[in-house]
Amino acid sequence: MGWIDDRFPATAMWEDHLSKYYAPKNFNFWYFFGSLALLVLVNQILTGVWLTMSYTPTSEGAFASIEYIMRDVEYGWLLRYMHSTGASAFFVVVYLHMLRGMMYGSYRKPRELVWIFGMTIYLALMAEAFMGYLLPWGQMSYWGAQVIVSLFSAVPWVGEDLALWIRGDYLISGITLNRFFALHVIALPIVLLALVVLHIIALHEVGSNNPDGVEIKEKKDENGVPLDGIPFHPYYSVKDIVGVVVFLFVFCAVIFFFPEGGGYLIEAPNFEPANPLKTPEHIAPVWYFTPFYAMLRAIPPIAGSQFPGVVVMGGAIAILFVLPWLDRSPVKSIRYKGVISKVMLVVFCVSFVILGYLGVVASNPVRTLMAQICTALYFAYFFLMPIYTKMESTKPVPERVTG
Ligand code: HEM
Repeated sequence: MGWIDDRFPATAMWEDHLSKYYAPKNFNFWYFFGSLALLVLVNQILTGVWLTMSYTPTSEGAFASIEYIMRDVEYGWLLRYMHSTGASAFFVVVYLHMLRGMMYGSYRKPRELVWIFGMTIYLALMAEAFMGYLLPWGQMSYWGAQVIVSLFSAVPWVGEDLALWIRGDYLISGITLNRFFALHVIALPIVLLALVVLHIIALHEVGSNNPDGVEIKEKKDENGVPLDGIPFHPYYSVKDIVGVVVFLFVFCAVIFFFPEGGGYLIEAPNFEPANPLKTPEHIAPVWYFTPFYAMLRAIPPIAGSQFPGVVVMGGAIAILFVLPWLDRSPVKSIRYKGVISKVMLVVFCVSFVILGYLGVVASNPVRTLMAQICTALYFAYFFLMPIYTKMESTKPVPERVTG
């Protein structure tokens, strides 16, 4: 080790990030999802590399190559189901990870950059999932991409050129498939990996938050070790294994028994090859995009242009970036915030889930109205936050972490 340490800071890195990284001792259930997101990332990269070995990124060969992977490649079905289920698992884990951050005020000073890197990861992840979904070249792959890319043409003045530039053609074609493949397997995974490294470096610079929102660095012993901190390794490295085991039970159950997830993980029209001459009856994106899709459909076009809906949908994601500057509460954690913050967070979550449902089903006037109400509530959580976090009375925060 001495020989290596003289040439590379291996021991120093091990200590800084694991054996002498002091994490608050009161991490709970919600703190499993960061390490689970890492696990899913590794799963996606490994299964993705192996899928690439047998996949053909052309409009003539793509669909058949997936069937070849499913039927003829040894364990190809397992690789594919691990990858397709992994995509949904990624969003489940990341949504819960984000909710934890929102509950405990982990986006607040000094962790604003941890949050911003996280949000950038989320954007990259959405792009990654969207492009990956085109690759099987099924009906839903094709028409889903057609709908989403055509949204860009709603941008005033440059829209049509922008959509043409993204597709590389006048409609989704083999050219689009080929470039989405390049971005999905090389460009975006590199960006994602780099962002995850930045995310963790930024977190370890300031230290982890915890369910009490108390800064453990403010109370240290004579050696400079936080009184409420415990070394990440072995305490949390071992605890995280519990989360991994439970996660793998659920993940394997889906892969082996419900790989299509009742049409939510792999949609029925995707068992038919892409046909540019036949539009499926009902086009809906995969479940993790449906809350935003419902917002898009909820906003009526103006003068035939869908641009207002596109702005609202983009705004719903963009507003999360500035969350650290909307929260004016004197306390971080929801445990010590007032009742309005608690109600607003619940309303926000319920609206998001309802929007997710409305984005899956076909729209009708009642559902459109519901989507409009839920969109308004979603934005109210953010727009009113500077007011309600400032005016409500909060509970006293303990000096040291509890429990
Ligand atoms: C590939 C996706 C991601 C990975 C691998 C990842 C990984 C991690 C890890 C390992 C931690 C430390 C352990 C923990 O606190 O759970 C963490 C903390 C954190 N992450 Fe992520 N993350 C991802 C996405 C995101 C996203 C999308 C956001 C928010 C927009 C986010 C926000 C945060 C915050 C605020 C913390 C600090 C939490 C605290 O100290 O209370 N992360 N992340």
